[in-house]
Amino acid sequence: MPNTIIVGTQWGDEGKGKIVDMLSQESRVIVRFQGGNNAGHTICVAGKQTILHLIPSGILHPNTICFIGNGVVLDPYVFLEEVDTLARKGVDVSPTRLGISPKTHLILPYHKAMDNARESARTKDKIGTTGRGIGPCYEDKASRTGIRACDLTHPERIRAKVERALLEKNTLLQGLYHAEPLDPKKVADDLLAIAPRLIPYVTDVENKIERAQKDGENVLFEGAQGTHLDIDHGTYPFVTSSNTVAPNAPTGSGVGFTGDSRVVGIVKAYTTRVGAGAFPTEQKNSEGEALQKNGHEFGATTGRPRRCGWLDAVILRQSVRLNGLTEIALTKLDVLQGFSTLKICTAYNYNGERVDYPPQDEGSLDLVTPIYEELPGFSEDISQCSRYQDLPETVRTYVERIETLLGVHISYVSVGPNRDQTIVR
Ligand code: GDP
Ligand code: IMO
Ligand code: MG
Repeated sequence: MPNTIIVGTQWGDEGKGKIVDMLSQESRVIVRFQGGNNAGHTICVAGKQTILHLIPSGILHPNTICFIGNGVVLDPYVFLEEVDTLARKGVDVSPTRLGISPKTHLILPYHKAMDNARESARTKDKIGTTGRGIGPCYEDKASRTGIRACDLTHPERIRAKVERALLEKNTLLQGLYHAEPLDPKKVADDLLAIAPRLIPYVTDVENKIERAQKDGENVLFEGAQGTHLDIDHGTYPFVTSSNTVAPNAPTGSGVGFTGDSRVVGIVKAYTTRVGAGAFPTEQKNSEGEALQKNGHEFGATTGRPRRCGWLDAVILRQSVRLNGLTEIALTKLDVLQGFSTLKICTAYNYNGERVDYPPQDEGSLDLVTPIYEELPGFSEDISQCSRYQDLPETVRTYVERIETLLGVHISYVSVGPNRDQTIVR
């Protein structure tokens, strides 16, 4: 099928990078359609780790072409750093195989300053953002004051836009947040100094994707964050600032889909979350600690420890619906080795009633009590299994129970971080 959309189904860090890299073997074009360098996508090939924040996770396959779509917010400094890091590793990151949409909004230093000033000013209600300026950049997009990649060839336009933006931001930074103001001349000069390196990457992304689709090439859309961090459908206000769900893939890349798409939801075999917000199945106990330790659950972007807990089929059911999942890749199953019992939350108790979908009122997810089903655990090392039938029966029972609860086929089972530690069913 020419279009495949890959999305996180939980609160991010489900292992999207690994699965995108794996599926890039069969794809010609890979597109990031939302988010920015708040994402941290990890790829392990032959034990060597690469963490990507902006550049699509298909870049390590030499025959792919990678695009950053209009729905992304791009920090130009981080982009060039990533380009340089990959180039040093011998990856071809020339504009022949990497492009940025002219409509992509740029994250500038004042977006990061606003993000951090706001978070510092919050007390008990901190969101725990990544501090990368994501929210403030999307705000400027929505308020029609943003600076886009197409502006890079217009120095006077950039100067005027930066000047106008800082008139407002500096008033807030100084007056409200007691933070340092930024110098508009320096912000514009710095951006214009790197513009010659960025301009060759700015290209008609939508036209190129459309051409690839017409040629029958496989196009892979790489989601960032996770369904429950979606600005509309997530645990608002503890969310990111973009639509992370699969229906945003066409909007964020400038293509209208024709025909069917594969929509692959990445499901971690348990649940994690970085930053604040509801997390019904969180385990603030030795089980949570064991998941964190065995799963090396530390953020790929900020290094923060991830909160850990059992699999939550209630939020996943919602993810199936919101994304229109056609299949699931189940990741990090190996991390559950050593637990004598595995728990799956199959419903919540909310206001004395059993509910199968998350309640929608703000804060309501903080008030639910998970109802768990218990399954037998396993002690075997499954990280070298390459065939589904070789997995212990207890493991297969766990996988198949998730499949039944969600009503979606699990087509990939990941049993380790490496590209080849994946079972195709
Ligand atoms: P992403 O943001 O969804 O791309 O996920 P991250 O890269 O932030 O976090 C996933 C982490 O789990 C990374 O360190 C991966 O290398 C690792 N990982 C992915 N799949 C597996 C797996 O099946 N088993 C284990 N043990 N680690 C995995
Ligand atoms: P990947 O793509 C996990 C979280 C932050 C914070 C909230 C808002 O690697 O799965 P933001 O900086 O976006 O305004 O922060 O969203 N968050 C992520 N959590 N994985 C991510 O990306 C995330 N990107 C943002 O921790 O709670
Ligand atoms: Mg991540």
